[in-house]
Amino acid sequence: MHNTSTGLFSPYRLREIEIRNRIVASPMWQYCGSKGYPTDWHLMHLGRLAAGGAGLVFQEGTAVERRGCGSLGDLGLWHDDFIAPLSRIVRLIESCGATPGIQLLHCGRKARMLPPWQNRKAITSEGIADWDDWDMIAPSPLPHTSEHDVPREMSAADIAEVITAWSAAAARADQAGYKVLEIHAAHGYLIHQFLSPYSNQRGDAYGGSFENRVRFLMEIVEGIRAVWPAHKPLFVRLSVIDQVGWELEDSVRLARLLKQAGVDALDCSSGGLVGISPIETAAAAQLGYQVDYATALRRQVDIPTMAVGMIVDAVQADEIIRGGKADLVAIGRELLSNPNWPIGAAQSLGADPDWTLAPQVERHFLRRREDAWRAAGVVLPKGHPASLR
Ligand SMILES: Cc1cc2nc3c(=O)[nH]c(=O)nc-3n(C[C@H](O)[C@H](O)[C@H](O)COP(=O)(O)O)c2cc1C
Repeated sequence: MHNTSTGLFSPYRLREIEIRNRIVASPMWQYCGSKGYPTDWHLMHLGRLAAGGAGLVFQEGTAVERRGCGSLGDLGLWHDDFIAPLSRIVRLIESCGATPGIQLLHCGRKARMLPPWQNRKAITSEGIADWDDWDMIAPSPLPHTSEHDVPREMSAADIAEVITAWSAAAARADQAGYKVLEIHAAHGYLIHQFLSPYSNQRGDAYGGSFENRVRFLMEIVEGIRAVWPAHKPLFVRLSVIDQVGWELEDSVRLARLLKQAGVDALDCSSGGLVGISPIETAAAAQLGYQVDYATALRRQVDIPTMAVGMIVDAVQADEIIRGGKADLVAIGRELLSNPNWPIGAAQSLGADPDWTLAPQVERHFLRRREDAWRAAGVVLPKGHPASLR
């Protein structure tokens, strides 16, 4: 049997939450909510990721207030009515042995867009059809691209209101039963817009110096930590570099502050402040193209990190964990393609996959594999690491 004590299939504990392995289903927007509410699709999407064996399953970026919605199909947590339908998702994920996580977000100047299959163009007021229109706010009145609407500069009252919306949504996420909460501070959305001098040209306490630009995020963290239970972990997703002025040194400096403020892990992504898609950069064609960011923050700040981006292979993922490059690996598109990827990874690494398999499928998965070996004329000696029984 493969030594699983330190690898991809070792459990991982943060605060009082134990995650069954190091594989995390990365948050992935599905663009098919209905006025902020989840639909059957979300149950299917998140349920199959949980049943496929991931340790921690993140629900997509869920808007903390209506103005934060990136599309007409966003999920929301801006009032209590959302709690009950979301708790159904939580129960489903937990029933499969996975840990339910939620990412919260506010899109700021990247709100009100069409989905990727309609090229993320700005939504016109007429295109909003049967939902009320909503205004777009940002630290400064600078559009995301020349094709997008100019956002309204946030007043001091808007800033206070949005910070409160984050903690109110976090309290609701707790009530719905999520065990891990992630603040989306990456990919050019509202918090990232405050962090970067490229999009934040304010002259008040929330703009200018590094301390001022990080203030919005730090106040959100403070507000959330006051309501998010002490036994539950808090993650922050960062664009560790953003190609327009925010560099690794800025992230290291910010990571130290976040650690002090009670953030438990950093999810290390990049980009998104310019351009249309956060994941379609030239570097995104490389395997593990953002792993170095997770390694740098983990080593320089001594904080747990999650690597993400083109992690597609079991040995590659296992090596990231064993090599101390990150504590968790988040996987996006590979899991969309094959939600059972963790089961295959456990089999190819020779790790005991019993924990991944619901009784409804367990026997058939094991038999299928044995039959496939036999059909290929391979007889495994008793006790061979690839033998499951
Ligand atoms: C369909 C889709 C939706 C996504 N939605 C989100 C999201 O809601 N929040 C987020 O932080 N990243 C989102 N991402 C980015 C992924 O979480 C991940 O960082 C990215 O896809 C790179 O990982 P991968 O190469 O394993 O796919 C999304 C990606 C995809 C493909």
